[in-house]
Formats: sequence, C-alpha cells, structure tokens
Amino acid sequence: MLGQSSGFVSVVARNRCAAGGGMVDGRDVRLAIAGVGLVGKRHADAMFKTDGVRLVGVADPSDEGRQYAQVQDTRHYETLAELLEGELPDGVILATPTPLHVEQALACVEAGVPALIEKPLADSADAGDALVRRAAERRIPLLVGHHRRYNPLIQRARAVIESGEIGEVRAVQASCWFYKPDGYFDVAPWRKRRGAGPISVNLVHDIDLMRHLCGEILSVQAQASPSLRGYENEDVAAALFRFEGGAIGTISVSDSVVAPWSWEMTSQENPIYPATSESCYLIGGSQGSLSLPDLRMWTHRGARDWWQPISATSLLRNASDPLINQIAHFAEVIRGRAKPLVSGLEGLRTLRVVEAIQRSAETGRWTDVGTSQSRED
Ligand SMILES: NC(=O)c1ccc[n+]([C@@H]2O[C@H](COP(=O)([O-])OP(=O)(O)OC[C@H]3O[C@@H](n4cnc5c(N)ncnc54)[C@H](O)[C@@H]3O)[C@@H](O)[C@H]2O)c1
Repeated sequence: MLGQSSGFVSVVARNRCAAGGGMVDGRDVRLAIAGVGLVGKRHADAMFKTDGVRLVGVADPSDEGRQYAQVQDTRHYETLAELLEGELPDGVILATPTPLHVEQALACVEAGVPALIEKPLADSADAGDALVRRAAERRIPLLVGHHRRYNPLIQRARAVIESGEIGEVRAVQASCWFYKPDGYFDVAPWRKRRGAGPISVNLVHDIDLMRHLCGEILSVQAQASPSLRGYENEDVAAALFRFEGGAIGTISVSDSVVAPWSWEMTSQENPIYPATSESCYLIGGSQGSLSLPDLRMWTHRGARDWWQPISATSLLRNASDPLINQIAHFAEVIRGRAKPLVSGLEGLRTLRVVEAIQRSAETGRWTDVGTSQSRED
C-alpha cells in the first residue's frame, strides 16, 4: 500500500551481521526513541500497538525521560550516542527538539541505523539537504514524521484527486487555527524561541499535505504578525502559493486564535483534541470540490452551472491510527520491503516551502521555493 520495494534492502542485514546478530526477517524489529516528551511518548504508545516491532530503549537526559523508561520497563540512556552503542537498534525515532534533528540523524546515518525524524526535518533546509545527501550516500533510509499522509482518509482523498473525479485542481484553501495555552510554552521553553513558531511547528504538516494532494508548490507570498504573548515567533500568518500544475492556494495559521478550523481540531487523529465536525481544507476542481477531513465531494447534479443544484457525497474510507500506520511502515522500510512514503527528500521539499513562507513574510515579496541538491534515490 505505502510504497514499493526499497533500494535499502541490505542496510539492517549489514548492521546485524556486523554486530553478529541475526536478520530482521523472522523476528521483531527493534526500535528506539530519542526524546520521550510530548510526541515521543505517542510514538511509544503507537509502537506498543503495532505487531512485529519492539521498543528496546530510550535516550532522554531529563528526569522525566528516566522515569518514563522505568515505567515502560525499557532501557534508559542519557544520550543518543550511548543508545546507538548500547543497543544498535534496527531503527530510531528522533522526537527531540527540532534544532537537534540534523546532528542526531547524522549520528544514526553514520551508525548505519535508519531514522524516522519528527517534523520538521531540520531547523534549516540547507542543513536538512546535507543530511539527506549523506543518508543517500550511505544508503540509509530516512523518514520524516508527516504522519497525516498515513491517514486512510488522506489516501482516499489523494486517490480521488489523482483519478480526475474533481477535474483539474484550480484552487486550494486551508486553515490551521487553534489556541495553545500558555502552559504549552512554559513546560518546554524552546517552543517560545525563534524558529519554533506555528509556521514551522504546525503549518509544516498542512504544507506537506497540500504538496501530497495537489503537487509541488513553486512560489509563495506571505504575511505574518509577531506574537502578542511576546514569544520570539509569529502567532498568525497567511500565505498565497502557486502550484506547479497551475492551481493557486491560500493558507493561514495561528496558535493564538480560538477556533475549530484546523486539522488538529477536525480530523480526530489525536484524542487530546476535542473533536468537531468542521472542515479545514477545501480543494476546488474544474469538475467538483472536496472538503477535508469530512471527505465530502461536491458536484452539480446536472451541468456545471452555478444555477444548477449542487450537492455533496460523503466518500467512504477506512479508519486507522496514522501513527500506528507510520510505525508499521517504518518497520517495512527497515525490513527492505517498502520505500519511505515520506522520505528525507520529501520532508526537505516541504521544509523549503516553509522557509520560503518565512522569507516572504519578512520581505513581503513573492518568493521562489527553490531546489535542493538532494535527489530522489
Ligand atoms: N508529528 C507531530 O504531530 C508532532 C507533534 C508535536 C511535536 N512534533 C515534533 O517533535 C519534536 C519534539 O517535540 P515535543 O513537543 O515532543 O517536544 P518536548 O519538549 O515535549 O520533548 C522533547 C524531549 O526531548 C528530550 N531531549 C532534549 N534533548 C535531548 C537529547 N540531546 N537527546 C535525547 N532527548 C533529548 C527532552 O528531555 C524532551 O523529553 C519537535 O521536532 C516537534 O516539532 C511533532
């Protein structure tokens, strides 16, 4: 379902043989997590519900990290280097603060260990580019944690768009609005600092889905306003973008607006958010339109004509937890049976759009997204 056979087949086998161990086939995939904060714990929960994988250790220097390892009865390491040395896991999930992603992912790559890196891939696209190139040289698979792509409803939406049912995509409208309480920032002060605003922390997911559903984004124009709470980042921003296929998109984000119109508050992916039945994405085509996440397709009953009745069909789809699907997919990549659905390069392309939005918000000018030196394997 999520990719074809991989060119990375031998990575783990090579590691295991070098370590005197067996092959992954026929046994559980041994995974470790660096950073067991908010999202690292969610990965562990997903792992516990996924067949064929096992959590073998966590690296986290905090007291909470140590206690968490104790409660989960798994080995604790102060550092990722010690974890890699002590466990030589089959794969590592990096759920650490964003500024650590590149350095830690490079450590995994040099140790020959595939990594699933939380989003955003890096704190700068150029550093992310260097990481992706090094991983390609070493033929070590990297995945980026844009888990929404593993949601069956996104897979259904993409299939509908690709089949041409809504015609040519001409316009996209998306919103990412919610209110994060002060405590969210106080418990992890890095969230207040430059680079951790809602464009890079939240909008990056929506941009990734826009690219996944509607194609490459070539250029953007954006505006942003500084945080009213005095943090080092924006607390509201909006962007206009041009897709390669000719569509035009608009998107806005705020972590300081009280509203339900965001993927977080509508998709029901994560039970910590109260569910609403609103939609947050509208994808407009020449034959019909799609709203998400309610997955309703709007078409005229007769001719395409604004004076003709228009109605919506609710499309069917399966339901399953994208984080569990992502872990299962990571294990398949490690086994050499699948190619990363969201590769390092995909995460990098999404990050380049985010950086273009940030640059444009500073200059107010149309900004090209630009290209990377990294290439698809
Ligand atoms: N996919 C998603 O939906 C999603 C959601 C939230 C956060 N994220 C991303 O996940 C990452 C972590 O975010 P968070 O909100 O969980 O942060 P957090 O602050 O809650 O957790 C980070 C953890 O990393 C630990 N840590 C710090 N330095 C470390 C080191 N050198 N080695 C190992 N562990 C270390 C901290 O002690 C902490 O437990 C960020 O990149 C963020 O953007 C993704």
